[in-house]
Amino acid sequence: KKKIAVLTSGGDSQGMCSAVRAVVRAGIFYDCDVFAIYEGYSGLVQGGSLIKKMQWQDVRGWLALGGTLIGTARCMEFREKWGRLQAAKNMVVNGIDALVVCGGDGSLTGADLFRSEWPSLLEELVSKGELTKEEVAPYQNLTIVGLVGSIDNDMAGTDSTIGANSSLERIREMVDYIDATATSHSRAFVVEVMGRHCGWLALNAGIATGADYIFIPERAANPSTWKDELKVVCARHRAKGKRNTTVIVAEGALDSDLKPITSEDVKNVLVELGLDTRITTLGHVQRGGVAVASDRLLATLQGVEAVKAVLELTPADPSPLIGILENKIIRTPLVEAVKNTKLVATAIAAKDFDKAISLRNTDFIE
Ligand code: F6P
Repeated sequence: KKKIAVLTSGGDSQGMCSAVRAVVRAGIFYDCDVFAIYEGYSGLVQGGSLIKKMQWQDVRGWLALGGTLIGTARCMEFREKWGRLQAAKNMVVNGIDALVVCGGDGSLTGADLFRSEWPSLLEELVSKGELTKEEVAPYQNLTIVGLVGSIDNDMAGTDSTIGANSSLERIREMVDYIDATATSHSRAFVVEVMGRHCGWLALNAGIATGADYIFIPERAANPSTWKDELKVVCARHRAKGKRNTTVIVAEGALDSDLKPITSEDVKNVLVELGLDTRITTLGHVQRGGVAVASDRLLATLQGVEAVKAVLELTPADPSPLIGILENKIIRTPLVEAVKNTKLVATAIAAKDFDKAISLRNTDFIE
């Protein structure tokens, strides 16, 4: 009987609970034992009561819940060799030989590193006398499967990450609220949204709410002209009778000298234009609330696919990341996806913004 563990790691996102539910139930359906690791990789390092065998009914109602009920963490111990050694021991002690990790690129990179080190970790546990040769013998191969849970939609190899659409919907709702008060007072609002180094949330929120202007890292603004351009565009909209001005700023927005463009910078320009301007930083409300239908669907389909992958993979196969491309649930090598995600940062550092945008799910604006 295959023993699969599921954990959520990194920043939480809407739909993580739906993903855990899908892994638990698909695992049980396919006659596996399924374990939830609580508190992300910390649970794997600490073991004990943080590793819990799950029953069908344990995840009842989870489809509709926000956040992650098994907890998440950005775990420092797992970045250290001793932490991964401890994690390997806890896996063997619990008889677990497959791990489904739902998290962002950092969490998935950690998972793949864990797999590549796995044989040497087992050897070390034996040589230190923590486990016997007999105990580790049945666990020579570790299967890792990645699910991308992140509001940022910043992972290559998938059109959408679990949580991105829910977060976008939350931003859309908040900007609609802001627009009402902005119009009443004839004010300008600079709305700062999350996304880390990725502009997907800002771009899509801006289009969905009819914002006047959007700043994203991948389409870096010209440092000598952006202020004037912003003024021209906003003044033009005002001249047409618009009573509110909305500028969406991605938290990672940059100019083409790679200098951050902050909400405060943008506000100052709008004030110069004579607009009564406020800044709203949406913050963690963007990660809150329940998952929208499309994220529940994505998490469920991908959770089931993750279990199927666990059952079908051979030791020679690379660890897969479960994604969605052109409406099909797909498996793609996890390492490749992480590598391609990193290419965006490289392109931005090299000021090759066309390349950066083409590597993102924002490429539809070209
Ligand atoms: O990666 C998800 C994310 O919400 C980013 O958009 C944001 O930059 C970051 O996490 C915030 O992290 P924390 O919750 O640790 O403040």
